[in-house]
Amino acid sequence: MRSFVTFGVVALCTIVSALPSEVPGYNLSSFVLPTQTGNLTLSPPGSNVELLFLALGRGTQNYSCNSTMSKPVSKGALAILYDLGPLLEYSPPDLLHTLPSYVLDMASPLVPLSAAGSHFFDSTGVPNFDLLSHGLSLKGITAETIPTTTPPASLGLPRSPTNPVNWLHLTATDCGIGSEVLTDVYRVEVAGGSSPATCTNVTAMTFQVQYAAIYAFYGPKR
Ligand SMILES: *[C@@H]1O[C@H](CO)[C@@H](O)[C@H](O)[C@H]1NC(C)=O
Ligand SMILES: *[C@@H]1O[C@H](CO)[C@@H](O)[C@H](O)[C@H]1NC(C)=O
Ligand SMILES: *[C@@H]1O[C@H](CO)[C@@H](O)[C@H](O)[C@H]1NC(C)=O
Ligand SMILES: *[C@@H]1O[C@H](CO)[C@@H](O)[C@H](O)[C@H]1NC(C)=O
Ligand SMILES: *[C@@H]1O[C@H](CO)[C@@H](O)[C@H](O)[C@H]1NC(C)=O
Repeated sequence: MRSFVTFGVVALCTIVSALPSEVPGYNLSSFVLPTQTGNLTLSPPGSNVELLFLALGRGTQNYSCNSTMSKPVSKGALAILYDLGPLLEYSPPDLLHTLPSYVLDMASPLVPLSAAGSHFFDSTGVPNFDLLSHGLSLKGITAETIPTTTPPASLGLPRSPTNPVNWLHLTATDCGIGSEVLTDVYRVEVAGGSSPATCTNVTAMTFQVQYAAIYAFYGPKR
């Protein structure tokens, strides 16, 4: 119900966000957002927004199981957002796109990446992205979601299949109220995070599944 109402508001309102007083430091213009996985694509960012922050998210997707007869229910997520800006300047684009698959087994910190913020779900179940150290934040609602296709073995990634959660596009809720500057975030190149299909083998009421993904944050063009 809540998400339905919010969708309507987003469609009707013009998001007016203050422009960042201080622009995040790295030149991100070489990054091309991947929008296609398998034969499905997310709608690309609008022409009125630009990439303001690029992050590697590394954390857990949370689930709950009431009984061994039920199916796991998603209970939000918690992830650290690492600044990919420095890496983008000095590495081939391919590295970024395969990074989530490589870091899934690694514990933080991911040297030389620095933690810039976090992704969490607030008490009302709304996904939040806190990059306030860079003057950016987003309270989001899912605008689009597509299932991740397991990458072909030919890519030689360390884990295949990765059992990934979906690729997503989230937009700011409530015309940007509660968000700073950001209007959109894309979650792409996902590794891990999905629950088992059933609770049959799950012994705890709540459990976490490790995941990693690229998060691309957009705000109004300057
Ligand atoms: C950012 O990098 C692109 C090449 O990737 C370059 O064309 C552009 O001039 C750079 N912008 C700034 C502000 O340095
Ligand atoms: C898209 O891919 C899925 C899974 O690989 C397949 O089942 C489906 O038929 C494909 N659809 C089209 C239109 O090619
Ligand atoms: C699990 O139980 C809680 C409270 O008892 C309930 O709110 C929730 O909907 C249940 N979930 C499932 C998947 O049955
Ligand atoms: C998700 O699990 C983490 C532990 O990995 C926990 O700290 C966090 O509060 C949980 N978030 C939600 C929304 O349940
Ligand atoms: C549960 O565990 C058994 C034994 O490891 C395995 O064969 C089965 O596929 C698992 N079921 C699920 C739903 O994960």
